[in-house]
Amino acid sequence: MSFSLIRAPLRRAAVAGTRSVPRAPFRSSFRHYSTPPPQADSKSSKSLLIGLGAVAGLGGLAYYFYSNAREAGTAVKSGVQAAKVQVNFVPTKEDYQQVYNKIAELLDEAGEYDDGSYGPVILRLAWHSSGTYDKETNTGGSNYATMRFEPEALHGANNGLNIARDLMEKIKKEFEWITYGDLWTLGGVAAVQEMQGPKIPWRPGRIDGFAADATPDGRLPDATQGSDHLRKIFGRMGFNDQEIVALSGAHALGRTHRDRSGFEGPWTFSPTTLTNDFFKLLFSETWTWKKWNGPKQLEDKATKSLMMLPTDYVLVQDKSFKKFARQYADDNDLFFRDFAKVVSRLFELGVPTQQFVTSEPWIMKSLEDQQDEKKQDEKK
Ligand code: HEM
Repeated sequence: MSFSLIRAPLRRAAVAGTRSVPRAPFRSSFRHYSTPPPQADSKSSKSLLIGLGAVAGLGGLAYYFYSNAREAGTAVKSGVQAAKVQVNFVPTKEDYQQVYNKIAELLDEAGEYDDGSYGPVILRLAWHSSGTYDKETNTGGSNYATMRFEPEALHGANNGLNIARDLMEKIKKEFEWITYGDLWTLGGVAAVQEMQGPKIPWRPGRIDGFAADATPDGRLPDATQGSDHLRKIFGRMGFNDQEIVALSGAHALGRTHRDRSGFEGPWTFSPTTLTNDFFKLLFSETWTWKKWNGPKQLEDKATKSLMMLPTDYVLVQDKSFKKFARQYADDNDLFFRDFAKVVSRLFELGVPTQQFVTSEPWIMKSLEDQQDEKKQDEKK
């Protein structure tokens, strides 16, 4: 049997003696899914309760063995190598910073891939693993990293994310102690920060789940739809209009791919640097429907080299969305502040932070910050 670890925040919570909080049963009538949702009495719901009880009642020891069993089960089901982790290893912030640094270095090893950075696709992995959250049933979210399992890995919205998962697997091999949920979200944090974005407060504390925890298809947004759809999908995660607009600013990064989503092209001229250009361009350019043999998308009239999805364009069509889009177009600092707040929340969806993660979120240092610190130290 292989061993994983009990992570620091969990152990602290166990010592403090936290209450166990059951997950609400899944309501299958909530919406129509293309694949059936997990049942309310699924093994995962029961096992979570056992796990929580173990944390509260036995000072973490039972949880320790319990999580090892979960990990072993996960490994068998996913075909992922079971982690051989030193018993009683409790990672510190510095250990997570080491992981961050490795991811940051990996982002730049993209060579000819897309625009020369793996940042955008790694950010998309973090978002798609978190954005499955449903506040009504308290299912989905980043906690269990269920995109490792089929059919979630094969959901249309996740096309192409195997690239990001494979990249993250390289990091996992080196840092076997980290859970996939922590790894993927830390990847998202590194992607934003290394692409010149704001600092995203982040903390560890996710556990790896079972295939039974995987979410049904249809929880992520459909780019061909309008404002009602965006409000329904993001409202289900607990986000309001302002937060929907701020989150959409991520489309300053990366591009759409014909063979993944069917769409084609980047949103901005600098797809590996986070700025408020996505919002600026929405207002400054004239957008016309692209005439082509593909899904409905817009192109900028001037160069025809940029694109907007129907769900992006709606941000300047809908009155309430437009107000926030205007503010972000006019004020990059405001966009960065709101983006950092909402992405930090996004990455913690489905994580029982109140009950188990007692630490305040951390600010991980970018590679640039660390270089600057080193220079300062050398001057002293
Ligand atoms: C508002 C609803 C959203 C819709 C409908 C949507 C849809 C899409 C689509 C269709 C793609 C192209 C995928 C491909 O062909 O490779 C894409 C890419 C991307 N999305 Fe979104 N997205 C949304 C929100 C978000 C959010 C909230 C984030 C992050 C906070 C995000 C980050 C990204 C990134 C970084 C890419 C580029 C990936 C790459 O370059 O490989 N998106 N999105």
